[in-house]
Amino acid sequence: MVSAALMLRRPLLVTGQPGTGKSSLAHAIAHELSLGRVLHWPVNSRTTLQDGLYHYDAIGRLRDAGLRRDQDGEQGLVPKEPDIGSYVRLGPLGTALLPVTRPRVLLIDELDKGDIDLPNDLLTIFEDGEFEIPELARLTGEQDRARVVTADPGGRADVDRGRVRCSEFPVVVITSNGERDFPPAFLRRCVRLDLPEPDEERLRAIVRAHLGDSDGSGADGIEGIDELVRAFLSRRASGELATDQLLNAVFLRRGGVGLDADGLLDAVLHRLGGTV
Ligand SMILES: Nc1ncnc2c1ncn2[C@@H]1O[C@H](COP(=O)(O)OP(=O)(O)OP(=O)(O)O)[C@@H](O)[C@H]1O
Ligand SMILES: [Mg+2]
Repeated sequence: MVSAALMLRRPLLVTGQPGTGKSSLAHAIAHELSLGRVLHWPVNSRTTLQDGLYHYDAIGRLRDAGLRRDQDGEQGLVPKEPDIGSYVRLGPLGTALLPVTRPRVLLIDELDKGDIDLPNDLLTIFEDGEFEIPELARLTGEQDRARVVTADPGGRADVDRGRVRCSEFPVVVITSNGERDFPPAFLRRCVRLDLPEPDEERLRAIVRAHLGDSDGSGADGIEGIDELVRAFLSRRASGELATDQLLNAVFLRRGGVGLDADGLLDAVLHRLGGTV
């Protein structure tokens, strides 16, 4: 499914129970394909498309212009306007749409928590692969290239005439816990992947991978862990439980914590749904 999404240049919509590795999938793709740091855009009910694209700090620029006027005026100099690019910060989506030789991985995390209009707003952007920053577009003359701030730590990028246009469509991973249905027009444009809950064999493989070879292959490590996997599976059969919780239990056991005492296993492997 990941390959299909890459080939079709469509967003991958990942659904599944909590802790089945939806968000981790974006990081796994970036790692496997050497696509660098994942651009993470966590969505909540107040998130708008604008947050993902860019933010212009007009007040900060005004304040800095005032300070300069005061300082330069004292020295009898003509004050220089603060460079506008430093006050435009691209969001994760805006940064993912910068022209680059290798596509970036963009994780739009928990889109179902977002505003009802957000999926449709995203459609237009995905279709066009570009957007405009009006504050930069109206600049003229030698100012028509601005060096803006990106969503990467310490990152800067040039934007010409206020237009950001991707050269490679980014690898977009959208996750959803299924709290809200998406509009059909949105679903049609996504490649869908439902992550199933891992079975016993897969759980063991996941645990082994997390422990690393040195610990995972040791007979001691495996022995205690078999028991935990079984306990996890029997509890999961009667209620929602995340893979993550099993990993917590495994790490505690590896750290020498006795899980049988004091109800610690109950505390770590508690059900996620319904009443406690
Ligand atoms: N299939 C898997 N392979 C390896 N690790 C996994 C897998 N599933 C879950 N994990 C581990 O469990 C933890 C939680 O995974 P992740 O945050 O990706 O889940 P999620 O599906 O995004 O959960 P949520 O819906 O709560 O956001 C991570 O530390 C991850 O490494
Ligand atoms: Mg997640």
